[in-house]
Amino acid sequence: MSETPDFAAVTNIQQQTWSKGDFAMVANIVYNVSETLAEALDIVPDERVLDVACGSGNGAIAAARRTWGGTIGSDYVPSLLERARERAEAERLDIEFVEADAQALPFEDGSFDVAMSIFGAMFAPDQEKAAAELLRVVKPGGRIGMANWTPDGSVGKMFKTISKHAPPPPGLESPLLWGTEERLRELFGDGIADLQTERRISRQPFRSADHYIEFFRTYFGPTQMAYERVGAEGEQALTDDLHAFLEAENTAGERAMVLEAEYLQVIATRA
Ligand SMILES: C[S@@+](CC[C@H](N)C(=O)[O-])C[C@H]1O[C@@H](n2cnc3c(N)ncnc32)[C@H](O)[C@@H]1O
Repeated sequence: MSETPDFAAVTNIQQQTWSKGDFAMVANIVYNVSETLAEALDIVPDERVLDVACGSGNGAIAAARRTWGGTIGSDYVPSLLERARERAEAERLDIEFVEADAQALPFEDGSFDVAMSIFGAMFAPDQEKAAAELLRVVKPGGRIGMANWTPDGSVGKMFKTISKHAPPPPGLESPLLWGTEERLRELFGDGIADLQTERRISRQPFRSADHYIEFFRTYFGPTQMAYERVGAEGEQALTDDLHAFLEAENTAGERAMVLEAEYLQVIATRA
């Protein structure tokens, strides 16, 4: 790679991006990915679980339903952590939420039985550091569970459509590489003793393409940021491309606009 990106600067911009809109609304669509992952991770009571880049707490809440305490969620957007605390309180679940960058977790080595990250750590610009942090905080024999969008799935294609109009900084690896077993093996290296992956579908129902675009422009930071970056001149072209992508991906015909977005469910065992 010719240019070394300024990871700190990119992290700062990304933090502002995820602070836009209200990701908690989008999280409603993917909550079941966390439940499925928590089930696959075979979490049992009293295990210590960390949900990295937890947003409004989907993964931490799923874990806490199984641990009876000892679960922590971390994210670098304070307003999302507030939403997570509200949700945990409403469900009477014992979860601690901590502000932290996935690339510099404020936890001791080997302090968790399980670290999970659902469509979260994959977005950190320094992929090696994010992977190293997931490995570092899990004890030997513990599990790392992830859900990562695949490059060819519908959400992968949505990110690629947006990137055509508002390109990422040069020199960054695509987050979507976390949705491939090859890159996971590179990132986790000999830090893991076993890697199990499974392609799964996240069903995302909307009334229409217009409904999808309006919803993402309102609530999803990366879409809102892309529209801000293209400005008034670029707005129509971005909307047209999103329409074309949605028409191609719609699985519900005339009835609605439903995406069946592929992701990779990952369970790695810490060496
Ligand atoms: C697509 S959302 C997923 C949230 C949650 N895991 C879920 O499944 O609902 C991505 C989340 O990752 C967080 N995030 C992205 N990069 C991060 C980083 N470097 N450190 C901490 N959080 C990060 C964002 O703030 C956002 O909450």
